[in-house]
Amino acid sequence: MADFMTTQLSHLVDIQSLSQQTLFALLDQAEAWLQPSTPFLVDSPLVNAVIATLFYEDSTRTRISFQLATKRLQAHCLDFVKQGSSVSKGESLEDTAANLIAMGAQIIVLRHPEPHTPAKLIDAVGDRAAIVNAGDGAYAHPTQALLDLLTIQQHKPNLSPLSVAIIGDVLHSRVARSQISALHTCGVTDIRVIAPANLLPQDINTWPVTLETDIEQGVSEADVVICLRLQKERMSTEQFPDNQAYYHQFGLSPQRLALAKPDAIVMHPGPINRNVEIADAVADGKQSVILQQVHNGIVMRMAVLAALASAR
Ligand code: NCD
Repeated sequence: MADFMTTQLSHLVDIQSLSQQTLFALLDQAEAWLQPSTPFLVDSPLVNAVIATLFYEDSTRTRISFQLATKRLQAHCLDFVKQGSSVSKGESLEDTAANLIAMGAQIIVLRHPEPHTPAKLIDAVGDRAAIVNAGDGAYAHPTQALLDLLTIQQHKPNLSPLSVAIIGDVLHSRVARSQISALHTCGVTDIRVIAPANLLPQDINTWPVTLETDIEQGVSEADVVICLRLQKERMSTEQFPDNQAYYHQFGLSPQRLALAKPDAIVMHPGPINRNVEIADAVADGKQSVILQQVHNGIVMRMAVLAALASAR
């Protein structure tokens, strides 16, 4: 623990703002907390701290794992969800946050449909609370990228020589943006993106990735295959692909996975559209680490919250 106290984060907005050293320190701390000897972390830096989870967009894994992380750190959680709150009476995000801070919140975990809302909230709250981005529009999802990296590292400790294939709706995916940034920071140079042309960001040529139009080519000899959800809630109707046609062209079937390395791992941030982006047999198969990603989310978020506490 003593060593870890030197890892300090003021806020966590995106992966680009983390050095490689900080990133690896967070992974190490999360890994060390993976085997709990007690349900609660005995020497937690956050005993009786107050952490608010402020979710303006639906979530299952992210919200619940932040709440569990809070419990394991012996802190208290203020659980705010938009539905049922005074947002319906016109209360702004800034006023909502100010009220949670007045109730003692030292850390605010924010999910919001608008990109860059966490950065704007930092401007509004100053140093009264630390802000963690739990997903902002299509911009960033740093804690998901960190837990994904932790999962990859558990199977493939030497990250830089890995070949990683990312398949699907990259245009709307904050997960892909943050994953690519995290892999790049860790020295991974073979990152392949496979997506329909209308679901690729316009500036994709400036990203540190190789574009593949053919999924078979894209997954060939890959060590890690990551599927992304078709995020229809962020699409205009003309962008909606037909589910069957999409599976035919971009779905990860057992036959396609067989083209990757025999020990390749399969990942998905969830929620899964079964048999649209990934076959049942692959999602539930022996190469799938999808539920391990979910499990790792708790310790990864504990490590982030502890690093934020160390800076305060
Ligand atoms: C992702 C998200 O919300 O960005 N899910 C998650 O946090 N595990 C991906 C998605 O919704 O497709």
